[in-house]
Amino acid sequence: MRLDRFFTTVGKLSRTECDTAARRGRITVNGKVVKLVKTHINELEDIVTLDGERVYFRTEFYVMLNKPEGYISSTEDSERTVMRLLPDEYSRAGGFPCGRLDIDTVGLLLITNDGDTAHRLLSPKHHAEKTYRFRGSVPLNSEMIASLESGIELGDFVSAPAKVKMVSECEGELTITEGKFHQVKRMLSAVGSEILFLERIAFGPLKLDASLERGEWRELTEAEIDSLKSC
Ligand code: URA
Repeated sequence: MRLDRFFTTVGKLSRTECDTAARRGRITVNGKVVKLVKTHINELEDIVTLDGERVYFRTEFYVMLNKPEGYISSTEDSERTVMRLLPDEYSRAGGFPCGRLDIDTVGLLLITNDGDTAHRLLSPKHHAEKTYRFRGSVPLNSEMIASLESGIELGDFVSAPAKVKMVSECEGELTITEGKFHQVKRMLSAVGSEILFLERIAFGPLKLDASLERGEWRELTEAEIDSLKSC
């Protein structure tokens, strides 16, 4: 693989940036400065550094973000997209949010450039579970909970039975397997409660890492990646 292709694939540098960096002597391969970007390297075996730091070859990445309020789940070029919370290399390497959380919803958002895995996780046929912690505007009585648990007519569709676990009169956790637009808000609204707070705490096999503050992110562990690919 050409050196510039290596850097664009891992998302570290654009072609032009790679050319400039190489000509300035910022790139080494196996300990030697390489100034020509058309130099061919073995991306799996050669040791490549940029400014003295090793750059590892990889094509796919998986990031868990604890989404804060006020950011949109999109890759569009705007100040307020979730991609702005990650270093640029993730956008350059083709990263996108796997699914959407509303601008005022917080919590677990997977960002990846693995289209096949994302597509499978989001496919309605896959029924990946998503768990949301919510606070409603009114106490949920047993009738409202029973409606959520049996499925609700929402105009364009009937929601599949949800799992509900109340932690106080107005607060609880709702697990659904679909991912329609504003689904949790619409389900709660249909039983008479408006959502005052919504946080996703689980997505498929992934659980929100409690050590991540809002706006913080980390790469998934190998075990988490395996669980995503095998679920
Ligand atoms: N359901 C909603 O209503 N909003 C979200 O952001 C996610 C699920």
